[in-house]
Amino acid sequence: MAKGVFITLEGGEGTGKSTQVKMLGAALAAAGLDAVMTREPGGTDQAERIRNLMIQRDAGNFDPLTEAMLMMSARREHLVNKIWPSMEQGKWVVSDRFVDSTRAFQGYGMGLDQGLIDRIYQMIAGDFQPDLTFVFDIDAEKGLSRSLKQLAVTADKNESTEDRYERMGVPFHNRLRQGFLEIAKRFPDRCVIIDAAQDIATIHGQILKAIEARFGISLREVKLG
Ligand code: TMP
Repeated sequence: MAKGVFITLEGGEGTGKSTQVKMLGAALAAAGLDAVMTREPGGTDQAERIRNLMIQRDAGNFDPLTEAMLMMSARREHLVNKIWPSMEQGKWVVSDRFVDSTRAFQGYGMGLDQGLIDRIYQMIAGDFQPDLTFVFDIDAEKGLSRSLKQLAVTADKNESTEDRYERMGVPFHNRLRQGFLEIAKRFPDRCVIIDAAQDIATIHGQILKAIEARFGISLREVKLG
């Protein structure tokens, strides 16, 4: 069905994914490609509403299945209203997180069965999969401290701060890290592991090379700021 390309960036907290999404977007645009940069949970008005329920500090605790279903509901909105229509128009869509985050956070992190997650995903997306997924890997403690530092800059110090998952502790984030590596093993055709401890420019170069190898287009490196 789709004529466009769908790329996802995945990984734990504080891996520098969001910076790389921005740089990739700039590199795609500089090459004259029509690129849509987006994120999950969110990406459309309705899905951003669900995001606000989920990831702020005051969100409280959800049952893991409830939480996965809310993530999948947001994902369905995102697919139907943004990802699929953009791909139909031949665009490149790059998403900061997608279904592998549900497999990692609600599955490996919160203990929900992987088969159950697959079944819900099949209901909302059928056989649709990303064409390419970058899995950002970093030591859990290092990632958490980077993320908390970043939040200290942007946070408004109140209960709407988006740090609910950061507050789940190091053992949770260790399970996440192992989970993402398991996911990369399970989907070797689409997953490329990125060592997120490297510097920003090196990671950007690796991402562009992987895209060149996969899709046969060459992209020039861009600088941030
Ligand atoms: P982020 O913008 O920092 O990536 O925040 C999104 C948070 O939501 C992040 O902590 C991971 C979490 N999340 C899930 O738990 N499950 C999901 O399916 C997705 C997409 C995100």
